[in-house]
Amino acid sequence: MLASGTGTILGAILDAGLAVGVVILDRPCPAAELAGAAGVATEVVERESYGAEVEALKRHQIDVIAMAGFGTVLAPPIFDVYAGRILNTHPALLPAFKGWHAVRDAIELGVKVTGTTVHIATEEVDAGPILAQEPVRVEPGDTEDTLHERIKVVERKLYPETIRLFLEQVQGGATA
Ligand code: GRF
Repeated sequence: MLASGTGTILGAILDAGLAVGVVILDRPCPAAELAGAAGVATEVVERESYGAEVEALKRHQIDVIAMAGFGTVLAPPIFDVYAGRILNTHPALLPAFKGWHAVRDAIELGVKVTGTTVHIATEEVDAGPILAQEPVRVEPGDTEDTLHERIKVVERKLYPETIRLFLEQVQGGATA
């Protein structure tokens, strides 16, 4: 797993019983404590260190990568090794609202429905084959925080389910 934030998506993946070999972080964050408490190895990579994730992932013999709010854009070297085996969850219905401010952008544009997308990550950010999507209604009075939290409730269920299916169908039970 690659994480940078509060780690609630990581927590859902751990709760779902998926085998997490290492959590790679790019900064001190609550996700680090969560991984530590669950007894999962952590590695902190320098954001400026081009492709540093690849070395850490190889060291832990990782087959499949799942990003959960990772704040560093992945550099090309990771795709040389893991193309087609990097999953991401995004808080919008791609291809709408790509980028780091997807929830804020949805509110600002006034859409009535947004949602979440699980997809295979490619070098182009928030692109790549879509594996699963679920809509979430935007309610009157929603703020970025209230809407993002309702989206994350859906992500915490959809992402572990989709990762499990991916591992079963494509990888035959690998370590993420
Ligand atoms: C999720 O909404 C994910 O889609 C986005 O970052 C958020 C991570 O949430 N890329 P958390 O840090 O796991 O709570």
